Amino acid sequence: PRLLVINGPNINLLGVREPDLYGHEDYASLLALCHEVAKDAGFASCECYQSNHEGDIVDRIQEAMGTIDGIVINPAAYTHTSVAILDALKAVQIPAVEVHISKVSMREDFRQVSYVRKACFETVMGMGIQGYAKAIRDLADHLSRL
Ligand code: DQA
Repeated sequence: PRLLVINGPNINLLGVREPDLYGHEDYASLLALCHEVAKDAGFASCECYQSNHEGDIVDRIQEAMGTIDGIVINPAAYTHTSVAILDALKAVQIPAVEVHISKVSMREDFRQVSYVRKACFETVMGMGIQGYAKAIRDLADHLSRL
């Protein structure tokens, strides 16, 4: 299967940005982790996409139709606002897992809503960047059962 990992706004600043919340490892380390775990979990390919722009994320999800088998997505701040990303995930019907580095359920009220969750079969949060490893493995497992 072919994996697409999508990261939303400010995830490119990992390691620099609020390290108490998001850790000291940088975005390059996250990419290395995703590629390593994806290979180990049996994915034939792993593409990592990051954008600070909502419409670009919608475009990337649309383009995944027919070329991608599973999506791991951390929509970052757009988690809490974007009906457009939710609708894109619903439109393409590609199995998806939602990931958050921090434990959003323990944070501000405005982070308690996730629109994207309604199009994902699982949510992983509060595990730091290791949450991506869990998400990738769980996605591989899910795809193998379809
Ligand atoms: C985040 C949580 C969001 O609330 C926040 O806007 C982010 C990152 C996380 O990974 O913990 O940018 O998605």
